[in-house]
Amino acid sequence: MTDVVLKAIREKKLSNENVSFSRIRALAARDYSIKDQLNRGRAVLHNTNQLDQYLFTYGRMIESQWEFALKKYTVPNIKPQIIDYACGQGLGSMFLIESLLNTNAENFQRIILIDPSSVALNRAVGTLDCYQTGAQLIPINKFFEETSAGDIQTDSRLDTLHVFSNILDINDFNLQHLTDIVASTTGKHHFIALSNDRDVHGGLHRVLDFPDALRKKTTDFKSEWEKFECKNGMSAVFLQGQFSVQ
Ligand SMILES: C[S@@+](CC[C@H](N)C(=O)[O-])C[C@H]1O[C@@H](n2cnc3c(N)ncnc32)[C@H](O)[C@@H]1O
Repeated sequence: MTDVVLKAIREKKLSNENVSFSRIRALAARDYSIKDQLNRGRAVLHNTNQLDQYLFTYGRMIESQWEFALKKYTVPNIKPQIIDYACGQGLGSMFLIESLLNTNAENFQRIILIDPSSVALNRAVGTLDCYQTGAQLIPINKFFEETSAGDIQTDSRLDTLHVFSNILDINDFNLQHLTDIVASTTGKHHFIALSNDRDVHGGLHRVLDFPDALRKKTTDFKSEWEKFECKNGMSAVFLQGQFSVQ
């Protein structure tokens, strides 16, 4: 199967002059009637039809989550490295970059992208590269359980912005292991997370377990969270914070 987004980039129909989430969604989102294969968004996707179905089914919801968050969140005015955990096709980093294009997106030094789906990761790298922010893109094609602090290779001279877009509510992975990775580099850290607000299959309590676990391993810990309503009427959660590791 051809990835229509990567094809459009290769054919220069999508370039840094015109790339945007809206354009990508218009190009690729498609209802193949395979929503069930997405397993409420948590499935590891194996083909581009599933990526396109994900954009069709969840794209606008995730866009509206980030719209809310980025009105409230001031991305630290530093030169950060981003780690986008369970990045999928890279929507979280994409919304961050788009919101900063006219300010300090070029300050991002590197974007580390972790996801077990190679087809999603390829699209994430191709798309983020198209924005030409100058950031080094580092894909890690692994489950969290297989990922170690050594894989992440953060630079302790840079602040780190940890991004969790629609992953912390999922109860399929070991939270303790994830917080070990997050707190593995000395330095200053920031985090931002968005998730559905529900109380089955993980959900809000799972999102809030994350700052609780991280607080115990770090210093200068601060976090806050709030619920809000997405444009599709669904309740969502926005969590943000910062900490240091010495
Ligand atoms: C709801 S999607 C979120 C994708 C992206 N962050 C977004 O906002 O569109 C969940 C992602 O988690 C990934 N995933 C599932 N299980 C995982 C695990 N155990 N470790 C790491 N990633 C996992 C899937 O491949 C999928 O891309």
